[in-house]
Amino acid sequence: MKKQHLFIDGKLTEAVHYTTLQAPYSGETLAEVASASAEETEAAIAAAVKARYAMRQMPAHQRADLLYKLSAMLQERKEEAARIVALEAAKPITAARAEIDRTIETYRFAAEEAKRLTGETVPMDAAKGGEGRIGYTMRQPLGVIGAITPFNFPMNLVAHKVGPALAAGNTIVLKPAEQTPLSAYYIANLLQEAGLPDGALNVVSGDGKTIGDVLVSHPDVAYLTFTGSPAVGTNIRSNAGLKRVTLELGSNAAVIVDKDADLDKVIPRSVTGAFTYQGQVCISLQRIYVHQAISEEFIERFAEAANQVVMGDPLNEDTVVSALITSKDVQRTLDWIEEAKQAGATVVAGGEAEGGILRPTVLVNVPRDAKVSCQEVFAPIVVINTVNSVEEGTQLVNDSMYGLQAGVFTNDIQTALRAVDDIEAGGVMINDIPTFRVDHMPYGGVKQSGIGREGVKYATEEMTELKFVMFNKN
Ligand code: SIN
Repeated sequence: MKKQHLFIDGKLTEAVHYTTLQAPYSGETLAEVASASAEETEAAIAAAVKARYAMRQMPAHQRADLLYKLSAMLQERKEEAARIVALEAAKPITAARAEIDRTIETYRFAAEEAKRLTGETVPMDAAKGGEGRIGYTMRQPLGVIGAITPFNFPMNLVAHKVGPALAAGNTIVLKPAEQTPLSAYYIANLLQEAGLPDGALNVVSGDGKTIGDVLVSHPDVAYLTFTGSPAVGTNIRSNAGLKRVTLELGSNAAVIVDKDADLDKVIPRSVTGAFTYQGQVCISLQRIYVHQAISEEFIERFAEAANQVVMGDPLNEDTVVSALITSKDVQRTLDWIEEAKQAGATVVAGGEAEGGILRPTVLVNVPRDAKVSCQEVFAPIVVINTVNSVEEGTQLVNDSMYGLQAGVFTNDIQTALRAVDDIEAGGVMINDIPTFRVDHMPYGGVKQSGIGREGVKYATEEMTELKFVMFNKN
């Protein structure tokens, strides 16, 4: 049986406690994984503190080379990496390969950002008192970054924190999701092989509260970057004091489909947005507001397409929907579907589970306060409601505590521009689903979807301190 130790100060480090990691689909035991105590987390922070100087002194071209090397190593071992993701996250293998492709690109973007962290000159003589002076800004690393990552993109969402942190010359203590620690240790191993200084990346798996509390309260952790639930994110914010935080939290992402939309394009794209990786994506398509002129045809064709989605073993090449991450989530989502039905919604596809797999589920006429509509469902469930205009759809999109990304399918430029102005979200995708993301674009939300932005350039900047320098020529 594989025993996965902690990764501290460049070494695999035996822990006091281990827990058994099982594959969500097959139940197969994958490893005995270290569960870090508060003291072991502190040791990881101490290693990151010790490595700060080495990282701070490392020239940008060397930081870039390290990240390019990691990207190339991952390219060579793509299939091995994808299988780790498929097994521990129950991510269908084609989606797992797509995630590795994105991860390779994310580290490449980070390598590029390492070389273009710049400041600006400040025209000092714009103020009377500034005459005869030269002013400029520079960006310096923050020090130790605490990173807490979710289960759903165990390679690429780790890359969105590790890549920018190293690009900016920081060191990291990474706490991966309890369900998917192996991907994080895999990356730590590759980085070590690539020549990262000992202690620059430390990985501590285990209980979220035990490790999280230390990261949040420790005076040597300068910055926290977290992707996960709004409840945990809010708790981090409340306890972080003056530490900077970036929070990527949930959403119940929506799309509006106008009367002139091309359903041959919109339906397959929306099915992908709703059901890929069993809907366990923060920007998964959860709510569809479709114009009444086309709603009957839309609902019929969408339900038909949902029934065609292939379910099963994540290692099967054809699988699109596999097991939810835990059996508790299966029961939770069945309860939410039942609640919506009791409130008057109709199930037009799915609505049942087969073992750990929830069938792709489509609900219509769902009241706005049903949990499947107003909470983050994180499962292959989509609700479709009819609207009389894109403006009405916009109001319903905004009728949410979340605001991460939204989509609008329309051929009317004025309608599109109005929607861009009025939708309350971190990103608006015109003629695409809210699930669209490439890794260099800014990514983050408003309202309870979080604070701050990821996307490699933006995250790298957030992980630096702006310093102002003035030379007096007088
Ligand atoms: C997320 O679930 O927040 C990440 C989505 C993505 O990177 O595609």
